[in-house]
Amino acid sequence: MAKDTVTITDNATGKSIEVPVLRGTHGPPVFDVGTVYKELGMFTFDPGFTSTGSCESTITFIDGEEGILLYRGYPIEQLAEQSHFLEVCYLLWYGRLPSAQELSDFETIITHHTMVHEGLRDFYAGFHRGAHPMAIMVGVVGALSAFYHDSLDIHDHRSREISAHRLIAKMPTIAAWAYRYSRGEPFMYPSNKLGYAENFLRMMFGFPTEEYEINPVAAKALDLIFLLHADHEQNASTSTVRLAGSSQANPFACISAGVGTLWGPAHGGANEAVIEMLEEIEDARNISKFVAKAKDPNDPFRLMGFGHRVYKHYDPRAKIIRKSCYDVLDALKLDDPLFDIALKLEEIALKDEYFVERKLYPNVDFYSGIIQRAIGIPTNMFTVIFTIGRTIGWISQWNEMIGEKGLKIGRPRQLYTGEATRDYVRIDRR
Ligand code: CMC
Repeated sequence: MAKDTVTITDNATGKSIEVPVLRGTHGPPVFDVGTVYKELGMFTFDPGFTSTGSCESTITFIDGEEGILLYRGYPIEQLAEQSHFLEVCYLLWYGRLPSAQELSDFETIITHHTMVHEGLRDFYAGFHRGAHPMAIMVGVVGALSAFYHDSLDIHDHRSREISAHRLIAKMPTIAAWAYRYSRGEPFMYPSNKLGYAENFLRMMFGFPTEEYEINPVAAKALDLIFLLHADHEQNASTSTVRLAGSSQANPFACISAGVGTLWGPAHGGANEAVIEMLEEIEDARNISKFVAKAKDPNDPFRLMGFGHRVYKHYDPRAKIIRKSCYDVLDALKLDDPLFDIALKLEEIALKDEYFVERKLYPNVDFYSGIIQRAIGIPTNMFTVIFTIGRTIGWISQWNEMIGEKGLKIGRPRQLYTGEATRDYVRIDRR
């Protein structure tokens, strides 16, 4: 029987080593290159990590060829249909579905952590009124580490759990306040009577002077968006959180690093960029012009919300969100011309050889903005909404890594192509 190893041969020296192949529950196996440098004196080279597994994980699985996404083994479609965000938070953190009592206790804990330290309010005043809410998120989330010293012992499991509860609970408050600050409107405190998404809607849109009536369609749609964004294995922001965490930095600092990474338009910032693109397209008759631009190798323009490093198939989250767009617009009796443009754009792109050949399909960001617009979320808050949902994924992945035996600082190597060694030249001789 063939050995479960891969042989790596350096043809220059003729030296060969055998490295072990490791197999997970699902997905392609990996070969462990941990001994390559010691044995062959070479590093492996994979900028962009296109062939590199950076860690072992039990949290989320994606089969990009088949368009499958599992949280702790449960298909995203089943969770979207039958579960809700806080139950998914429990699942991701604790690794199993809660009993009714466990869920109720968890919801109570999260509800009672939604307030933020009053001192943190003062931070907002330091931001420019026109600051992007993601800029405020990066700052205020990082600042949590200056207020919650009692849960910063990363080697204590209970301390990590309290930090996770705090992050999940406070993120909507911090996010809604970022929006209120930009509007010059009063900050709304959370209400313990409300559910997670409901509370966020009230803090975003309510006023202390009157009762805020929750629209159940909006609350359900938002909860679904949080759930669908909850985790996505080793994406750029999650890998950032893990790398930051590997230095044993505190969880709030690590999550703040993740928020910064998520902001980029190639990652979570794409949802905002999609709406900007659809607005720019303006009319379905202009679509072919934009598709041509996206295909032009000399034009940096890309179809935002299209393509994915892992999915070479329709993103299962996009499929769920697309369907939800119909439900939400219908329930709210809205007609969004941008949704029509998005549908037409998808139809045209999916028939175009360029997109077919490269297996470029709509990703999670393509339709999520349509729902958010429908429930009144302004475009510059879209990535903030993504942040709220993804926090549980980041903190669960961080916790998994910190809990491992023999945690090592993440420290990639490089292929140096700069100047060879040379002598310093005194300034009067240059
Ligand atoms: N429009 C036009 N061409 C594209 C697009 C696009 N959206 N995405 C990829 N391509 C082309 C790309 O030009 C390249 O063509 P060629 O082989 O001729 O050079 C080929 O497809 C492969 O692209 P890549 O850049 O090597 O793929 P990647 O895995 O490095 O990038 C991506 C993945 C998501 C960054 C990229 O598809 C992209 O920029 N998409 C638009 C931004 C976006 O929607 N981002 C959200 C990602 S999903 C949610 C999240 O992560 O937050």
